[in-house]
Amino acid sequence: MKSAVKISIIDNLEGKIEPLSDSEAEKITALIRQNTRDVNQGEYTPAQIERLNAFATPEKIQEEVKRGYLVTLCNDEGDLIGCGIVVRKGMKLIIKTMQVKTDHCRKGYGSILYTHCENLFKQAGLHEIEVEVPKFPRSEAFYRKHGFTRTGNPTPMDLYFAMFKYL
Ligand SMILES: CC(C)(COP(=O)(O)OP(=O)(O)OC[C@H]1O[C@@H](n2cnc3c(N)ncnc32)[C@H](O)[C@@H]1OP(=O)(O)O)[C@@H](O)C(=O)NCCC(=O)NCCS
Repeated sequence: MKSAVKISIIDNLEGKIEPLSDSEAEKITALIRQNTRDVNQGEYTPAQIERLNAFATPEKIQEEVKRGYLVTLCNDEGDLIGCGIVVRKGMKLIIKTMQVKTDHCRKGYGSILYTHCENLFKQAGLHEIEVEVPKFPRSEAFYRKHGFTRTGNPTPMDLYFAMFKYL
């Protein structure tokens, strides 16, 4: 039987400023940092992992969420097991990160997070999504499953590759 997960959302994309508490910001930072290390099977050096995680500090996450969107998943014990962050960039939206703890992977939680994020693009009237995907095989497989293809577009510092989907 699938255990129940609790979905929480902070949506500041339309101008609201619902704060993210320091303790929540710390939990999210810890999840992103630990998960990126756990998923890494040698695709990145420790220095590259640091660069991948540079955006993940409590202060930066709080800044992003002030003007962005955060969806989190907690298990029935209240532990944070996944998160997704969407931010505005000019006229576009960007999926900044999506994470599911490795011991909770392949249960559909990433897809729950992704569906919430994709709906924001649709509601904003956008007709395409481009994502910067880390070079983990599971990340590419996940986005392929959701209809994305690789584009060959350049990405910052060669840490990612770009994938694209029409909505
Ligand atoms: C990518 C990630 C969010 C997926 O989370 P998840 O909860 O395991 O995803 P789901 O269970 O919803 O998987 C949906 C589909 O994606 C594909 N997929 C996911 N993980 C996979 C893997 N390890 N190997 C092959 N396919 C995989 C499968 O098609 C899967 O469907 P299935 O289980 O019915 O076969 C998670 O692996 C993760 O946090 N990775 C590290 C961070 C990351 O790369 N984030 C994305 C970009 S920021």
